[in-house]
Order: sequence, then C-alpha cells, then structure tokens
Amino acid sequence: MDTPKLYVLPKLSYDYHALLPVLSEDLLRLHHDKHHAAYVNGANAILQKMDKARTDNADFDTKATFKELSFHIGGHLLHSLFWENMAPPGRGGGDKPLQNIGKVVDEEYGSFDRFKKLFSQTALSVEGSGWAALTFCKKTNRPFIMQVEKHNTNIYPMFRILMVLDVWEHAYYLDYKNDRGKFVEAFWNIVNWKEVNKRLDDLLKN
Ligand SMILES: [Fe+2]
Repeated sequence: MDTPKLYVLPKLSYDYHALLPVLSEDLLRLHHDKHHAAYVNGANAILQKMDKARTDNADFDTKATFKELSFHIGGHLLHSLFWENMAPPGRGGGDKPLQNIGKVVDEEYGSFDRFKKLFSQTALSVEGSGWAALTFCKKTNRPFIMQVEKHNTNIYPMFRILMVLDVWEHAYYLDYKNDRGKFVEAFWNIVNWKEVNKRLDDLLKN
C-alpha cells in the first residue's frame, strides 16, 4: 500500500510538431505540458489531501472536493483520449472512418459528411469551455454525439467515449485566435480513425 496511487501525465505518441499544419508545436507543448499536466497535478493534490484527511481522521468539504476532483479527473481522461484520437495528417490522421466505425456512422447519420457537419456544429455551439464527443450505446446500437461542459457534465453514465474534440480556448487560441470554426474544420485532417474504430471494437467486445 506504500506505492503512491496517483495519476501520471501520459506522453504523446507523436512529436510535438507532428500535427502541423493543423496544430503548431508551441500550441501542442502548451496544451499537453501545461494544461493537461495541471489537471493531473490538480487531481493528485486532491487525492493527497484526502489521504491526509484519512490519516488525520479529519473531515473535509465533500461537495467542493468531489466536484473539483471530477473536474480534474475529467480533464485528465478527456485529454488522454484526445491525444490518441489524433494522428499526423496523411500518416493515420484524416481520411474517413473505416470498418465498424465507418459503418455505424453511415447508418446513424446517413453519410460521413453529414456526421462531420453535426459533430462540428456540436463543437461550435459548446458554450464557453468544453468538448464535443462521440459515444456509443450498446442497448440501441447507435453512436451518439454529445457535448461535455468544462470537463465533467452532460456525460451519459457508462457510455464510453470514442472520440473527443477539445474546444477550450487553450486548445486553439495560439494558432487560430478566436476562430473556433477554423480549428474545428482543420481537426478533421488529423482524426485518427483507426484508434476510434479500435475503441468501438473494444466496446462491442466487452
Ligand atoms: Fe485542453
């Protein structure tokens, strides 16, 4: 029980400049090394505070603590999914959804272009900071597009996320200023459909 049970910032599986021209090296460094790291550190600080409260047999403000914890854990998990559902353009990034994910997207949305439009509209209409996400319901065999406000609301419990798009300003401001639309449009050039399909296959298996 002595091993610290804490979160660890995952390394990117590509270079910081690999997502050019969609995302600059500076933006990716800032986003991963500062913003994502802040959620990992934030979650760990709360876990350590909770550990200390246990040792001291002390109470703490459960409402505020658990809200803040879910914010940081949500930020950490969503960013971890985000990095892996992107790949360098032309080297796994972009193109069209393939295999199973291609099939469910076509069935539910009629075509990839229509899905792209709906997902982009979802990302564009997030109020303030948040995410657009693609999930899948095994009971109805349908993919769902959803919005995540900040990092932690509007999530369907038990629905696993297949793909996310970060539309916090820190995700694009350095490269796109306030033009979220341009960023969302460019995102399609780096979607890693192989990874998204793998997530769907894993979900269907279990
Ligand atoms: Fe972010």
